[in-house]
Amino acid sequence: MRNNNVLVVDDSKVDRLIIMKTLESANYDINVIESDDGIDIIEKIKLNEIKVVILDIMIGDIDGIEILKQIKADQQICDTPVIMCSSLHDSYSITQSLENGAYDYFEKPISNKTLKITLALKIKNALDVRFRLDHMKYLQEYDSLTGLLSRKSIESEIQKYSERGHILTVVILDINGLRILNDAYGHDVGDKIIREVSDAVRCVSDGYLCSGRWGSDEIIVLLPFSVQKSIAKFIERVKEQIDSTRKNDYGITFGWATSRHNEPFDRLTQNAEENLYSNKILEKSNVRRLMIDSIMNTLHQKNPREEKHSVRVSMISEALSKELGFSDYEVKRITLAALMHDVGKIVVDEKILNKPGKLSEEEWISIKRHPEIGFKILSTSTDTIDIANSVLVHHERWDGKGYPKGIKEKEIPIAARIIAVADAYDAMTAYRTYRERLSSEEAVQEIVRCSGTQFDPLVVDAFIKVSESKKIDQEMVSIHENQNLINEEQLQSVMI
Ligand SMILES: [Fe+2]
Ligand SMILES: [Fe+2]
Repeated sequence: MRNNNVLVVDDSKVDRLIIMKTLESANYDINVIESDDGIDIIEKIKLNEIKVVILDIMIGDIDGIEILKQIKADQQICDTPVIMCSSLHDSYSITQSLENGAYDYFEKPISNKTLKITLALKIKNALDVRFRLDHMKYLQEYDSLTGLLSRKSIESEIQKYSERGHILTVVILDINGLRILNDAYGHDVGDKIIREVSDAVRCVSDGYLCSGRWGSDEIIVLLPFSVQKSIAKFIERVKEQIDSTRKNDYGITFGWATSRHNEPFDRLTQNAEENLYSNKILEKSNVRRLMIDSIMNTLHQKNPREEKHSVRVSMISEALSKELGFSDYEVKRITLAALMHDVGKIVVDEKILNKPGKLSEEEWISIKRHPEIGFKILSTSTDTIDIANSVLVHHERWDGKGYPKGIKEKEIPIAARIIAVADAYDAMTAYRTYRERLSSEEAVQEIVRCSGTQFDPLVVDAFIKVSESKKIDQEMVSIHENQNLINEEQLQSVMI
């Protein structure tokens, strides 16, 4: 709840009472604190977290303008709006008050008009101004998503400790692949993960110096020690805490550094970032598997048919790329691109993905976004960036009538031309509730018919050879029989 503490400094009991009654009747939920002597006003403001001060021009023999000057000179409370009450027609005092930073004024004796209309409104406006100032200050000092300190505040904390010559260890936590998670599941999920991690850090670092948001996917903690064993223990506790509350699949990489004598304070965070970066390289393969598994699993849980489709398209693509004479490495990359070619369907509503019958125009627009979403997901990781472009253009046609770019012939990467044939063959031969599936012979005939229009003739030639050797049919049978389609072993076999 908003704190609306107002301090009324006035030696006249009657005037204080009038002001209090006015505020009560205005119903602004204001908590009034009184001072009748004008003594220790600065301390009173700080102690009671006063938001607005109503200050008489003279309190006994204490000059209200002097108190106003003291308030405005104090860094901690100078933002507090002060409303001065002056004697009627005392224009000198009014000018003095405003010149010294008073927010507003009213005149005494308090007129009926002031009582009924302006006084309460002036105080309410001053409280609103103060609230907005406090909020802006909060946003500068704290991160609005996590409630942890902002990067700027953390930097000034590090500087303070460094100036005092205190030992400090900086630990940076990096949430792996947050950009991919944001693209695949939306920013709400990404934000929940950041909050999950920051809550875990807050819980474990209670009693330590402080923690803050360092970057969009980084949290920072300052520890008042340098013993490696204690740092390792802290990191272990954070990991355990994250695991105990984890609701999403993601990984965390830690980087840390300890301050050295006579070293500039910003070097400390640079050292921690460098340590984080080298740890990230070491953990890269795990991270890669985690991210890909997670997105693919979610898509396949939403739609098991997609899982079978991905595996079949990857197997046909593997056979085609081998037939076309690619190296082992290239075959693996093409197979991986085929396995992930529809990963962008993660953003398509499952009702649309599972819909029997024809799709509406709007539903088609939604489906046709999947190559671009797939590109976005795969291009955020250095491990899959080389296949991202093939995924982007897997619905392009040899004659240039495909989407999303409308490119043609060899402008389309060979992996995408291979996937296009495998994709079409599987779509024609797979079971659908709303249409008869074609026999493999009929599907091959259809592919041949579209050679040179929809498909690359070279790939179609390879496809004919592969289909004549019955390799495709044998693989299809084994896929239909095998329910656990994508397992880790299989995924690893195509990952470099
Ligand atoms: Fe597709
Ligand atoms: Fe597909």
